[in-house]
Amino acid sequence: MSFSGQKLLLDVQDLHVRYGNYEAVKGVSFSLGVGEILGIVGESGSGKSTIAKTLVGLERPSSGVAAFADGVSAQMIFQDAVGSLNPRMTVRQTLDEVLLIKGRGKNGEARNACDLLDLVGLSKAVLDQYPRELSGGQCQRVSIARALACRLDVLIADEPVSALDVSVQARVLNLLRDLRRELGLAILLVAHDLAVVKNVCDRICVMEHGRFVDVGPAEQVFDHPKSDYTKRLIAAVPSISA
Ligand SMILES: Nc1ncnc2c1ncn2[C@@H]1O[C@H](COP(=O)(O)OP(=O)(O)O)[C@@H](O)[C@H]1O
Ligand SMILES: [Mg+2]
Repeated sequence: MSFSGQKLLLDVQDLHVRYGNYEAVKGVSFSLGVGEILGIVGESGSGKSTIAKTLVGLERPSSGVAAFADGVSAQMIFQDAVGSLNPRMTVRQTLDEVLLIKGRGKNGEARNACDLLDLVGLSKAVLDQYPRELSGGQCQRVSIARALACRLDVLIADEPVSALDVSVQARVLNLLRDLRRELGLAILLVAHDLAVVKNVCDRICVMEHGRFVDVGPAEQVFDHPKSDYTKRLIAAVPSISA
C-alpha cells in the first residue's frame, strides 16, 4: 500500500539523537500517513525507544526534524503496562482523570469510561479494580483506553506486547488493527520481534545500531530483505506465526 499523495501526519527527516557523546539515532527518515500502521523493528539497544520518545518530546533531536503536521495529536503507550498505571487508582479513576482534563472523542463528542472499555474489548467489571487485580493483557488494554481518552490521531506503541504471553499478544495486536479500522488511527508500532509486526504493519523499518537498514512494505521487506541483519531477523521468526 502506498501513502504517497496522502496526507502525512508525521515527517521525520535525518533525525539524530545523542545521549552525551553516544549517538543512539544516527540519521533516520520516515513518514506516517493517515491510518497507516508503521513498524519499527530491531534488536534491543538499536534506538527504537529513543525515536519513540523523541516523537513525544521526552528526548530532543540533536539534529534533523521530527514534526507532526498541524493539529495532529499523538499519545504513547509502553511495554510495561502494569507499571505505567498508577497502582493506587482503579481503572475508572485512571480513565476519568484523563477524561476530566482533556477528554474528547474523535469528533469532539463526550466519551466516558464505559465507552473506552468497550473500544478496547474490556468488560465494565474491571472499572473498580486496581492494576494488580488485572492480567498483563488487561492492563495493556487499560493503558490503550487511557490513550484513547484524548483526541488522538497517532498512537505510538513502544513494545506494547513484549511483556505479554504469546496468545495475549495476538489479541492486543488485533485490537490495534481494529482501532485503526474503527477510529482511523495511525499507529507507530515498535517491536524487537519481527513476528509481532509481520501481520499487522503496512510498512516496516528495520533498525540496526541507530540506522534503518531496510524500509518498505511489509511483504517486500519479508520477501526481499536487503540487509543481512533483516535476513537474520526473518530466520529467527518461528514459522508457526502465520
Ligand atoms: N537515557 C539514556 N542515557 C544514555 N544512553 C541511553 C539512554 N537511553 C538509551 N540509551 C542507549 O541508547 C541506545 C538505544 O537505546 P533505546 O532507544 O532504548 O533502544 P531500543 O529501544 O531499541 O532497545 C542503547 O545503547 C541505550 O543503552
Ligand atoms: Mg526500547
